[in-house]
Amino acid sequence: MNISATATPVRKIGTALLVVPFTGASLKKNGSALLSDMGFDDGVMEDFKAENGQMAFLYGSTGKTAARRVVLLGLGEGRKLDDYRKAGALLAAKAVEMKVGSLAVDMTAVKTFAASAKTSAQTVVSAFIEGCIFGSYRFDRLKSDKLKKKKDRDDKKRDIAELVLRSDTAQLAALEEGFAAGLITGSCQNMARDLVNLPGNMLQAEDISRAALDSGARGGYEVRVFGKEEIEALGMGGLLAVNKGSQHPPTFTVLEYNPAGKASRTVALVGKGVTFDSGGISLKPSEGMGEMKSDMAGAASVIGAIEAAALLRLPVRVIGLVPATDNMPSGSALKPGDVITTYSGITVEVGNTDAEGRLILADALTYAKKQYNPDIIIDLATLTGACIVALGYSVAGLFSNSDRLAEDICEAGQRTGEKVWRMPLWEEYDEMIKSDVADVSNLGARGAGSVTAAKFLEKFTDGHRKWAHIDIAGPSFASGKGGAKVSGGTGFGVRLIVDLLKTWS
Ligand code: BES
Ligand code: MN
Ligand code: ZN
Repeated sequence: MNISATATPVRKIGTALLVVPFTGASLKKNGSALLSDMGFDDGVMEDFKAENGQMAFLYGSTGKTAARRVVLLGLGEGRKLDDYRKAGALLAAKAVEMKVGSLAVDMTAVKTFAASAKTSAQTVVSAFIEGCIFGSYRFDRLKSDKLKKKKDRDDKKRDIAELVLRSDTAQLAALEEGFAAGLITGSCQNMARDLVNLPGNMLQAEDISRAALDSGARGGYEVRVFGKEEIEALGMGGLLAVNKGSQHPPTFTVLEYNPAGKASRTVALVGKGVTFDSGGISLKPSEGMGEMKSDMAGAASVIGAIEAAALLRLPVRVIGLVPATDNMPSGSALKPGDVITTYSGITVEVGNTDAEGRLILADALTYAKKQYNPDIIIDLATLTGACIVALGYSVAGLFSNSDRLAEDICEAGQRTGEKVWRMPLWEEYDEMIKSDVADVSNLGARGAGSVTAAKFLEKFTDGHRKWAHIDIAGPSFASGKGGAKVSGGTGFGVRLIVDLLKTWS
């Protein structure tokens, strides 16, 4: 998507689709006047109320507007930043569906929008563009014509090739700054979605590492990959245990972005990279098992967030840690009842081989603390079905030993629309993961499955005071059954983390 800014008067912009966004208030105030300036009567205002994502298409201007068609785009009240992002996403999805290759958005009112959302013009534009890029995403690269790279004319038409933002000269710099930032975050989020959508046969642990190396090359940050031998030498018993049933070697990838100047702090991000989760010997039921190709969504979001941080040149040092393997049954696989020794030295009784995420995350958390002693550790993981039972498909579970950190993450969730809800880590839950034979069990008792999973992870943070675990099992993947327009990976976490890193800049 090629994005640019212009101060050309709205009526003179020659485009396939001219977008005029309105909040409820701005519609009441300026709707009729703007419509008549463009050569339309205001009859459309009977139906168009500027509800968020509402669109009204207008054709046949009386020669006053150069654009082929005009769409009024509802922003809703426009009081929340996410109003702009959501409207942008719905607009872009519609433009892709209509095969409108290029569009122009009238952002003349950007200062008013920023004031009503109590933020800057840059931030509003950035959120809107993030939405546009998110909404224009389609995962179609595995369709045979794409595989053969036969890019016919129709394909080209489908993507939004050109997006022009219009404002008065005084706001142009803000627009440019905003769309540059939105483009970075939006593209990195879509990159993460691509990784999530790639099926297990096309994305093994080594492919995740390669994707991280490619990302490092794009973002100009460092990536190191540990192969099986190095993982064995380190003694990462959790990752090796989960990998035992696999035909493919595990990897442990370390991403490191160092800002040019002095870093305000060091943040470690740990991402669960299970490329396919069959459950192992504790095999999952076959219904919906295919969706377990998305069990590396945490890893994808960590890679996406670090690439964005690097491209945005945020003044924070960010370390990414990605343990990766698939979880498969076989004669050599990990078995229920097995006892393993993790990288930390803590022994774990495996009550269920399907509780594999916590085993590989345990090693990564230990590594984060030991190697980097970062100011903050955050892990992102599609960890438990129980979290979906608790919070559904659009909200992630948050667990943290720091109220301050939890608050920061909750607020970032509100700003980015990637919402999280805090759950407890009270000591009452410790009972539930006790083992008779080892230090701890990877399986809880009945109930509170997402809490006991978090309590398990906590044991591997070695007393670190600022750790958060975000269970993204629900919001990382849209099954398509929930009414979502675009099914598949959502890249949940990229915006959230980038926003946090900006806050800590
Ligand atoms: N990857 C799953 C969790 C999951 C479930 C993610 C559904 C997305 C959608 C995880 O590895 C798992 O299998 N968890 C088990 C834990 C249980 C065996 C203690 C679960 O949630 O059932
Ligand atoms: Mn599992
Ligand atoms: Zn899993």
